Amino acid sequence: MGSSLIETVVDEIVKTKDEKGNTLQKVNMNRIKLSEIHEQPWFPKTLRDGLTDELQCVFKFGKVYEPIVPRLAKAIQAAGARGVVDLCSGAGGPWTWLRRSLAQQMNSEQIEICLTDKFPNIAAFEREKEVSGGAITYCRDSVDASKIPPSLDGFRVLFTSFHHFSPDEAAAILQDAVDNRRGIAVFEAARRSPLTILLTSIVFFGGFLVVPLIRPFRASLLFWTYLIPVVPFVLWLDGVISCLRSYPPAELAELVSRVKPQDYVWDIGEVRGLLTPVTYMLGYPAPSPK
Ligand SMILES: C[S@@+](CC[C@H](N)C(=O)[O-])C[C@H]1O[C@@H](n2cnc3c(N)ncnc32)[C@H](O)[C@@H]1O
Repeated sequence: MGSSLIETVVDEIVKTKDEKGNTLQKVNMNRIKLSEIHEQPWFPKTLRDGLTDELQCVFKFGKVYEPIVPRLAKAIQAAGARGVVDLCSGAGGPWTWLRRSLAQQMNSEQIEICLTDKFPNIAAFEREKEVSGGAITYCRDSVDASKIPPSLDGFRVLFTSFHHFSPDEAAAILQDAVDNRRGIAVFEAARRSPLTILLTSIVFFGGFLVVPLIRPFRASLLFWTYLIPVVPFVLWLDGVISCLRSYPPAELAELVSRVKPQDYVWDIGEVRGLLTPVTYMLGYPAPSPK
């Protein structure tokens, strides 16, 4: 099948039996196979960085990820991880405030975060490092979440980015975490629901409101937001596409069923948020029997 930007593809799950012949739950993943504009290599870096900056700011004011703090703290502790490797970080995601909330929840002094992205927004990563007094670091080089270098040690987290990956890639990301005995958490604000798709218009208008708050100041962001509003438009369009590509809990469970060995604890569901629920999936090695 081709992969044009507007092609609808049903990702059929081919594997319906495990190796012992037991029938697995069959889930048809009715994801729309669309590529987001900002993940195209040809999309200009200035626009992509502006888009991730605006998204991060809008999500911060919408307190989108606040409800996931207790679950993430529990999973990081259960995994015995000392730090976090954030994948597909964009402009740094929620870590400025989340790092403090997690430390509080975990009764820990400090938790170290390493930001990574296939297209790193270095100016934003530098800002996060400075604001956190060095508790947040970053990888200057491109890090593809589907090919994580072994040197990156820590609990793996993906915020609103797991939908970028096809079912095979997504299952491989989970398998790699299990093979390396790393904890992994996926949180998605994007959902395949009419309400969440409607709420992407808040992200569009929010994009206009947050620009004066974004640091470091860039005249290009003013231009591409207020004079020619390419950034808020792509932010909105990619938001809609993200929703249509997102994995609901049943499909995340199906992806987990492909991962071997099954000696991991998996916690999958949705938690109510201020505006829209957040879908979550957490996985960490099961405690060994005493
Ligand atoms: C919607 S943004 C999410 C940003 C951030 N996690 C947040 O919540 O604000 C998605 C990010 O995923 C990155 N990305 C896309 N494909 C990737 C891949 N294969 N590996 C690593 N990063 C990727 C993009 O560059 C972009 O910064």
